Amino acid sequence: CGIVGYVGPRPSQSILLAGLSRLEYRGYDSAGIAVIDDQGDLGMRKKAGKLAVLRDDLESHPLPAGTTGIGHTRWATHGGPTDANAHPHLADDDKLAVIHNGIVENYAPLKEELLEEGHTFLSETDTEVAAALLAREYRAHDGDLEAAFRATVGRLEGAFTLLAVHTDHPGLVVGARRNSPLVIGLGEGENFLGSDVAAFVEHTRNALAIGQDQIVAITPEGVTVTDFAGDAVEVEPFEVTWDASAAEKGGWSSFMAKEVSEEPEAVANTLRGRIRDGAVAITELDGLDDLFRGISRIVIIAAGTAAYAGMVGKYALEEWARVPVDVDLAHEFHYRNPVIGPDTLVISISQSGETMDTLMAVKYARERGAKTLSICNTQGATIPRESDAIVYTHAGPEVAVASTKAFVAQITALNLLALHIATVRGELSADQVAEQVAELKQIPEKIQHILDDEQPHIEQFAHWMADTRSVLFLGRHVGYPIALEGALKLKEISYIHAEGFAAGELKHGPIALIEPGQPVFVVVPSPRESPVLHSKVVSNIREIHARGARVIAVAEEGDAAVLPISDEVLRIPLTGAITQSLLAVVPLHIFAMGLATAKGLDVDQPRNLAKSVTVE
Ligand code: G6P
Repeated sequence: CGIVGYVGPRPSQSILLAGLSRLEYRGYDSAGIAVIDDQGDLGMRKKAGKLAVLRDDLESHPLPAGTTGIGHTRWATHGGPTDANAHPHLADDDKLAVIHNGIVENYAPLKEELLEEGHTFLSETDTEVAAALLAREYRAHDGDLEAAFRATVGRLEGAFTLLAVHTDHPGLVVGARRNSPLVIGLGEGENFLGSDVAAFVEHTRNALAIGQDQIVAITPEGVTVTDFAGDAVEVEPFEVTWDASAAEKGGWSSFMAKEVSEEPEAVANTLRGRIRDGAVAITELDGLDDLFRGISRIVIIAAGTAAYAGMVGKYALEEWARVPVDVDLAHEFHYRNPVIGPDTLVISISQSGETMDTLMAVKYARERGAKTLSICNTQGATIPRESDAIVYTHAGPEVAVASTKAFVAQITALNLLALHIATVRGELSADQVAEQVAELKQIPEKIQHILDDEQPHIEQFAHWMADTRSVLFLGRHVGYPIALEGALKLKEISYIHAEGFAAGELKHGPIALIEPGQPVFVVVPSPRESPVLHSKVVSNIREIHARGARVIAVAEEGDAAVLPISDEVLRIPLTGAITQSLLAVVPLHIFAMGLATAKGLDVDQPRNLAKSVTVE
């Protein structure tokens, strides 16, 4: 879910709606706002459906103008996406409005308790329970909203960000967070709260990161932050480097189209400042040489697309740094009693830095004594703050739910990290590092080349395939996670059955799926860089071609071996064996987007998904 709060001199409704539209990627099955005017009257409106439904409704039936307000865009957990279950939820005779992100795990006994006291509920949500509890504490604490928050959060279990406004206090928004995200935006005579900085970056770049288990109160004049016991705490200021316009669609048909077009930049910006004289220089990692020398294994944890970037990272880290690497889905790692300790480096990868599955796994790894390093795209996010070290990807804000430019930035960061660790551990010579660095530096222009020369053709091809019901993806080595990513992207945005397999595994099962006409994408390794793997994959293509599959090869320019056995060849420029992942994925991103577009689907906001899933 996405959360925004505003206090200041300006009418809050338009600020809240603009903030919500920037947070809509966090959930879009319903939305609502509550505003308080100077007389202390509260207006509230909430609607099932995307933000546009709420916006249209507000345009035809405006709320009274108020300069204090909160807004919410929802990804349903408790209770389906209906008007009643949308946030805000009101309590205290409609004088208090509350929004919430997260899950109150003990809501059932709390609801029971409140029902016994005669409270009635209008929705099925856990949030309404929190709102009722807050109202009760508000009365018990003589109208002190912050004290009421302190009493309330003590009763809640689970993860949450809660924001509230009360008609007794125009010009005040109070919030609390435990494990769910919340950041403060500092304006002039106005202040903001948001799930992330995108909520307010068009108004201010001065931000404060709030820690876990803290309560924040904003007024037009200032901000106070306390812990759950009520003691003042230090907060960390930071400047948002994202440009507000970077999160605008510009002239593009979708955010995804824009973000795919930014893949070259995402790689270039992630490399920028981190290469010096052919060597890797990641300033964020200064002083950590002993840590890198001391580890005996690495575990990479992530979810979704980020986990596939992690799989590519395994090849880079093992090849160059010679450290054994496991890649785990964060939620599987966490609940499996994994064998980790002080000699383990746990690398988490997350675009948002807020994915709850990943966050909880990072905390768990720390508790078990492992070292933690976070690869993250979002400043001020929680996961990097919970980690011993951070390497930021500089992909810029990613809005489309399906991750594209962040994925190539993650692979780039992992390549740099692998070369850094290889250097520290003396596994690669300066020349060997320089050779890899040179390949990396050329990636942005090579991706650009694919976009310029191949994109129209791939989109046309995707258009022809619009009626396809199932697509398979095969690859070996780094081509394997790329095949998985190609399949995931297609599932996510075009709702077609798609599966990725390790090409070597084909004969052990998946080949039974091949029937005449079955489309199969195959990521083909470079014949020059990986001759053995290349010939193995060519053999795999023969096996499926012979059984009538419609083969779409993603192959290097000049690779003639694939021609007689492929129905379609999507060309990528020459590069190293590991960096090939950064090029091979591009046609697959374009294809998924082209097919979903041909089917008339909303590529930015696919059904049932949210970009940043802040519940476990
Ligand atoms: C969600 C999104 C995926 C994304 C995953 C991890 O499931 O729908 O596209 O890959 O979360 O997100 P993160 O922000 O941790 O990279």
